[in-house]
Amino acid sequence: MNIRINTDKTGIAKSDIEALRPETGKALDRLWSGNEPMTGWVQLPTGACHEGLEYILNLADAVKNEAELFVVLGIGGSYLGAKAAIEALPKYERGIPVKFLGNNLCTDYFWETIEEIKKKKTILCVISKSGNTMEVRTAFEIVKPLLVDRYGSEEEAAKRIIAITDAEKGSLREEANEKGYTSMSIPADIGGRYSVLTPAGLLPMAVSGIDVRALLSGAAEMAGSPEWDTDLTDYAICRYLLQQRGKEVEFIELCHSRLAYLGEWIKQLYGESEGKEGSGLLPTTLTFSTDLHSMGQYLQQGRQIFMETMLVVDEPSIQLTIPAGPQEGKTIAELSEAMVKGVIEAHRAEGIPIVEIHMDRLDAAEYGQLLYYLETSCAITAMLSGVNPFDQPGVESYKAEMHKLLD
Ligand code: PA5
Repeated sequence: MNIRINTDKTGIAKSDIEALRPETGKALDRLWSGNEPMTGWVQLPTGACHEGLEYILNLADAVKNEAELFVVLGIGGSYLGAKAAIEALPKYERGIPVKFLGNNLCTDYFWETIEEIKKKKTILCVISKSGNTMEVRTAFEIVKPLLVDRYGSEEEAAKRIIAITDAEKGSLREEANEKGYTSMSIPADIGGRYSVLTPAGLLPMAVSGIDVRALLSGAAEMAGSPEWDTDLTDYAICRYLLQQRGKEVEFIELCHSRLAYLGEWIKQLYGESEGKEGSGLLPTTLTFSTDLHSMGQYLQQGRQIFMETMLVVDEPSIQLTIPAGPQEGKTIAELSEAMVKGVIEAHRAEGIPIVEIHMDRLDAAEYGQLLYYLETSCAITAMLSGVNPFDQPGVESYKAEMHKLLD
């Protein structure tokens, strides 16, 4: 396994971690039992998504041959996984630009994207598990006429629309069936924030040129790893124990600039899975070393209500040697390593608990391992805390208020 966890700097005794292993074993058994609601994602890398993979890759090829721009309309789990992967990973083959819309209500951003769509041969991909999400439906209604204008008729526009939604329910499914859009489904037993390895994540990734096959193999390797019986669950256990011991916030520190958007995906995953019934660490992200020059002060000397999780990529894809100045002859990677070690030393001196997650390199296979690892760790922490990792009752409250106003 290329993902490695170090809990030595958490201040938690090994015996306390080991004492919880039977509980995490039970949580894993429940996740894999096939009897727990909304756990279809657990078996995705080893089964379900490989079955649909050829179809996804062929569809991605067709999109790349036809279009100059792929516009994904989606929000939350229906865009964050794809967006984060596209920002993070190298493109191993020719891809086309992927742009995301429907993830905010910003007029300026809508306008800018509309202008781009008008200029380019565009294929639309509408992603919504429920099929009814307001931002996404609104974006779809705005963009559809642009395709009709460009291609001359509703029928021609429909050939350039892909819908990814529930297999049976929702207004998007109804429309896709009625208008004959190319469509794929998000399985009923997989929620939005766990859907990155369904077509919702994989199709945009494949269109961008990411090696989706390698990403799935990495996730499958993580899913089947025997190390779940030993140290892989330690992160979940530490998060749970630190919360029990009074920590309220988790700073997830991304020590690679291309992982900044992964932080957005993690915030949704952790926030919606664990933040309920008055429980859950507040997940927030920092990018290092950038944020050491802003939040570094708070981390070192502010209120000690937090734990830190440092996500470190050990090997850069190329080496860059500093040509002159005080650091002459060293590589940027050496500076980065010194930065990570320096942060750990300084913060440990203040007693801050730190979990390290290391990956060897930022490639599709290891990224697949990481995604599956974070999903499973999150579900285990929520289960240890006694909350349901797979619902999000709180998200509905603001929608009810907003719809009252709009109606
Ligand atoms: O995790 C979830 O289920 C949610 O955050 C959804 O991803 C988000 O609300 C978008 O929903 P939908 O895919 O139904 O448009």
